[in-house]
Amino acid sequence: MIDISTKIAGVKLDGCVFNASGVRDETLLDLENLAKSKSCAVLMKSCTLAPRKGNPAPRCVNLKYGSINSMGLPNLGYRAYIKFSKILEEKYQKPLIASICGLSPKDNIIMFKAFNDTPVDLIEFNPGSPNTIGKPIVGYDFEEMDRLLDSVSKVTKKPFGVKLPPYFDLTHFEQMANIIKKYPVKFVTCVNSIGNGLAINPQTEKVLIKPKGGLGGIAGGYIKYTALANVRMFYQLLADKIQVIGVGGVYSGIDAFEMILAGASAVQIGTAFLQKGPGIFARVQNQLSNFMKKKGYQNLADFRGKLNTLD
Ligand code: SIN
Repeated sequence: MIDISTKIAGVKLDGCVFNASGVRDETLLDLENLAKSKSCAVLMKSCTLAPRKGNPAPRCVNLKYGSINSMGLPNLGYRAYIKFSKILEEKYQKPLIASICGLSPKDNIIMFKAFNDTPVDLIEFNPGSPNTIGKPIVGYDFEEMDRLLDSVSKVTKKPFGVKLPPYFDLTHFEQMANIIKKYPVKFVTCVNSIGNGLAINPQTEKVLIKPKGGLGGIAGGYIKYTALANVRMFYQLLADKIQVIGVGGVYSGIDAFEMILAGASAVQIGTAFLQKGPGIFARVQNQLSNFMKKKGYQNLADFRGKLNTLD
């Protein structure tokens, strides 16, 4: 029997694939659909203090190999997700993960404190989406990340991880890893979308999405190799003491296998879930199990992180 279960910060997951925050996870109905699917955890939409409508539409468009979005954090406000977590815990036996994306340091502290007394198992801190108009991508401001991690670490009682933007420079991987190691961060999620891409329709000679003159986060197949590099670098730099969750361009069991081989302890699916629906979770995990069987692997520990380089 192939075992693809995993643990994140000590929380047992029946499989190793679950939803990425931001796709079909905003309403209670969305979250119940995830709870009923084969996603092995329910990760809620990144929340802010007050509800937000997000950016004007069109704000998310499928592309040939992925998607571009500038959602602008539409969400129902953190109080709704606290309420939903209680409902979900009563009805379903599935690990629950909150995602916090405060628009100010003070907002983050308020929300981290508020989630202390909820049934959520884990918190994924999303310190800065690429799409919030007027806000920088906080993950690229190393001093601010240091301050934010310091302040939320002091107030949270829940195990928490950090969702990171993609890094491209070797010194940036090291700088961010050194900051993360200072705090009780249990996992990093690599990667958020590649910020501020531009998709164009050559027929209409127009951009595809409305916010920010057409600029938006690029996700899906286009970012798989960047995501793999980030998973690998953080797996090595954090010495497997802080876990890595891989996200970006996972459509198949082989994609998930590659993430785990690079060092991921679990894998999230965003764009493929948007495009293919909730059946993607069972499909990817079945394909992963079949591929492991062919290779003679019994569980994730047999190959996780064991990527070879060319001598
Ligand atoms: C959004 O709502 O704009 C996406 C959130 C994110 O990229 O973190």
